[in-house]
Amino acid sequence: MESLPIFIKVKDARCLVIGGGDVALRKVTTLLKAEAKVEVVAPSLCDDLAQLFSDGKISYQAVSFKTTSFDVSQLKQAVLVFAATDDETVNTEISNAAKAQNIPVNVVDAPALCTFTMPSIVDRSPVVIAVSSNGSAPVLARLIRVKIETMVPATYGRLALLAREFRESVKSKFSTMQTRRIFWEKVFQGPIAELVFSGQETAAKKALAEAIAQDDNQPAHGEVYLVGGGPGDPDLLTFRALRLMQQCDVCVYDKLVSKEVMELVRRDAELIYVGKARDRHTLPQEEINQLLVRLAKEGKRVLRLKGGDPFIFGRGGEEIETLMENGVPFQVVPGITAANGVSTYAGIPLTHRDYAQSCIFTTGHLKPQLGQNKSGQDDATVELDWPALTRPNQTVVIYMGLVGLDQICAKLIKHGLPADTPAAVVQQGTTVRQRVVVGDLSDLAAKVNAAELKPPCLIIVGKVVQLREKLAWFEARQD
Ligand SMILES: C[S@@+](CC[C@H](N)C(=O)[O-])C[C@H]1O[C@@H](n2cnc3c(N)ncnc32)[C@H](O)[C@@H]1O
Repeated sequence: MESLPIFIKVKDARCLVIGGGDVALRKVTTLLKAEAKVEVVAPSLCDDLAQLFSDGKISYQAVSFKTTSFDVSQLKQAVLVFAATDDETVNTEISNAAKAQNIPVNVVDAPALCTFTMPSIVDRSPVVIAVSSNGSAPVLARLIRVKIETMVPATYGRLALLAREFRESVKSKFSTMQTRRIFWEKVFQGPIAELVFSGQETAAKKALAEAIAQDDNQPAHGEVYLVGGGPGDPDLLTFRALRLMQQCDVCVYDKLVSKEVMELVRRDAELIYVGKARDRHTLPQEEINQLLVRLAKEGKRVLRLKGGDPFIFGRGGEEIETLMENGVPFQVVPGITAANGVSTYAGIPLTHRDYAQSCIFTTGHLKPQLGQNKSGQDDATVELDWPALTRPNQTVVIYMGLVGLDQICAKLIKHGLPADTPAAVVQQGTTVRQRVVVGDLSDLAAKVNAAELKPPCLIIVGKVVQLREKLAWFEARQD
């Protein structure tokens, strides 16, 4: 973050606005909403500022910027200073003087002179949402604000006021933060909130008081959400995935989940990394299964977040089997699997009327050969149903095949696919780190080696790969 977002109490504190035009008026209006003691210093005032002055809402000091240089003593005891004059020299002087006295200063339209910037605000007091682009794109920040305006009903403020009124009684009824949070989430997402939204505040208060009295204050029943996080781009998450990510107490995740997706997990959820890089399982699968059971039995809402889809080469089946055996409630949320997302972002349709009428997903994971030492990659082999993979007019998508790529290509040729069959490897598909190497079965491994692609990578084999030449769209958009 380029700056620290904070909310400052300015009630009855001296805030100085230098400048008397429309821009100054906007700052003054916001400051008055926060009940600041506003003092305007300017040669003259626009009509609205003059009205505020005559109504006694602000104080005003007339100065001439033309004849005198800015008098720095005016800044004394100000908690915030806004420079909103159209004179660059005066604005710079104000900025320097404020910085010298450690007073936060904002100079309109001059981010370099500011020590703080003003965000775009969605005011649902006491809930206030501030959006900032750190001065880089104020218009974008405003557009984001408008989106938020439409998503957060005006009545949210009243809901927050209701919560404030009952905060202490909820605190004394529910002794732990977790039980309080679960109680409030039920209130904010259930019928009590609906009563507030529809203007029935007296009924909402009554219902809330009853809910506090009736809640049995028992430890919550835990649950596991087995969620597919998709191949990387967070926009590919489902609505349900996002909702559950936002309400979990703990998130058990593995290597494949992109950092952009992890950003969307509830900020204060506990994060447990269980790894699963090739050959470096941080926790063995059986221990992951038991961990999920233990966390849920502690009453937690456990998000088991996996890359792609949990049921496609994701061992999701094994995890829910253990949950079932242990009577732990769960739900499964499908995600976009790598074959689907990555091929789409690489501009390679997996089926096509002219080239492929079917598509096979398989794993190219190397298996250690029987009787040999398990550590070296040279001792490992890829055992697949080669006759099934080499049928004509189909696309083969191979997960986890990067390490065995040369073996895979050689075996596909050996079992009958022409050596010039188009093939591609896509690294970290759907993310800004996506890279695609295209070749054919005879030269793909060498090309991928030269390009130094790193996992996760997906292999796509079949005539459809040649369509990429025309249909690649994602990287073009990135340039
Ligand atoms: C253990 S499998 C998990 C697959 C996952 N459950 C899914 O549905 O996509 C991991 C393999 O998925 C593939 N993969 C997953 N995400 C990928 C991405 N963004 N780009 C390329 N390959 C990816 C790679 O082949 C990786 O080795």
